[in-house]
Amino acid sequence: MSLALTDVSLTYPGTARAVLTNLNLFVPTGTSLALMGPSGTGKSTALAIAGLLLAPTSGEVTIDGQTRTVRDAPTMLRGEIAWVLQSVNLLPRRTALDNVLLPALAAGGSRDDLHDDAVEVLLRVGIESPDQVARTLSGGQAQRVGVARALMSRPAVIIADEPTANLDIATGRGVARALLQAATETTVLLATHDEHVAEMADAILRLEPEVSGDVAPS
Ligand SMILES: Nc1ncnc2c1ncn2[C@@H]1O[C@H](COP(=O)(O)OP(=O)(O)O)[C@@H](O)[C@H]1O
Ligand SMILES: [Mg+2]
Repeated sequence: MSLALTDVSLTYPGTARAVLTNLNLFVPTGTSLALMGPSGTGKSTALAIAGLLLAPTSGEVTIDGQTRTVRDAPTMLRGEIAWVLQSVNLLPRRTALDNVLLPALAAGGSRDDLHDDAVEVLLRVGIESPDQVARTLSGGQAQRVGVARALMSRPAVIIADEPTANLDIATGRGVARALLQAATETTVLLATHDEHVAEMADAILRLEPEVSGDVAPS
């Protein structure tokens, strides 16, 4: 499914300045877009809007050609949109496999039906020992399990907010590569600080810091 933001603006309630002003982006089906920009330029805000967690002050979110709003979030987040965050929050005493399976089991699936899929999804992101207990995984491996967990629902869209920010640079790049390679049929919107990670995506959009009206031009 394609993902588009059209003329999206956002001012947080109780604040004076817009965080986003007429942001436009389009991510064709099965491709990836990296959002770059210094801290505070609104990357997480744009992702929250795209993921239907936050209503824009004005503008539209279109998924697969249909206008979507926060009212669609409960349905869309059940499988069509999946998130990968900076901290993966695995259940530490459960195995990698269990961590990938649990959301699908909670959604009513059966372990027998899901098992092979989960092992395959873990392999796709480079985790070869599904029975390893989560607390013994390295940071990079844990984040890969988080990517596998997101892929397990076969989402149409993955939204990844700085998924490599807690990792050292080389590990982070490996995880980003795994995410982008595993998500072949998935549309990916990714925020990152790492130019190398951004370059792995099909396209890059840079958010510029707003020039503050308070600062006199020099
Ligand atoms: N819930 C909120 N209420 C008010 N301001 C917020 C809120 N969330 C973020 N901001 C502000 O919006 C701006 C953009 O934040 P954010 O989207 O997190 O940027 P980035 O992810 O690029 O670092 C920042 O100035 C931040 O302080
Ligand atoms: Mg952010």
